[in-house]
Amino acid sequence: MKITTPRLIIREFKEKDIADIVANRNSLNVLENHSLIHNNKKDVRSQVLLNQKQVGKKKRENYSLGIELKSNHKLIGGIDIYKVDRFLGKATMGYWLGKDYWRQGIMYEAAQAMIEFAFNKLELKRIDLDTSTKNIPSNGLIKKLGFRYEGTRRKYHGPKAKGTCWHNANFYGLLASKYKTK
Ligand SMILES: CC(C)(COP(=O)(O)OP(=O)(O)OC[C@H]1O[C@@H](n2cnc3c(N)ncnc32)[C@H](O)[C@@H]1OP(=O)(O)O)[C@@H](O)C(=O)NCCC(=O)NCCS
Repeated sequence: MKITTPRLIIREFKEKDIADIVANRNSLNVLENHSLIHNNKKDVRSQVLLNQKQVGKKKRENYSLGIELKSNHKLIGGIDIYKVDRFLGKATMGYWLGKDYWRQGIMYEAAQAMIEFAFNKLELKRIDLDTSTKNIPSNGLIKKLGFRYEGTRRKYHGPKAKGTCWHNANFYGLLASKYKTK
């Protein structure tokens, strides 16, 4: 599948993206707040191949997609709608972006497109999102997207890139019934 926005192409990961994925995740600032921590070509390749198994599935549970920048055709990040539960009408969202591309409104643009996809095409009723209480960029993005804070869980995130350091996590939800299409 493919979603285009003014600056981005959100699409399935391909094997040719592996070097770009590793390069963009190759910064502790990306890895420390994201659980996808096995950042080597072998493990990234396994992940890409695993994702490809979801493509074309009638009841797909995981839309783990790459973010390509139209201007240079580089794969600069990823965004996921996963744990898709069609019976309950809900799913979880996650994302990461190479540090060189931060603070340009890129993830806001990508996330809005994915939210529209989840509500309009998948006809979900709710999207869940959680992030470390210490992740200032992600907490800011989530609020800007219109998610509502629903509580904090203690010592919920323990990314391996951070060793034994466990973080509390803020939980947010976005309801289709409250979402205003941009
Ligand atoms: C979180 C992340 C995806 C944000 O991507 P981004 O493209 O830089 O975010 P945007 O430029 O679209 O910013 C949207 C809003 O988020 C907030 N925000 C983003 N970065 C911020 C920062 N460094 N400090 C404070 N607020 C920030 C702001 O509210 C911003 O809106 P504004 O520019 O109008 O002030 C990026 O920082 C990242 O990949 N971090 C590492 C991986 C990660 O944490 N993933 C999430 C795991 S839950």
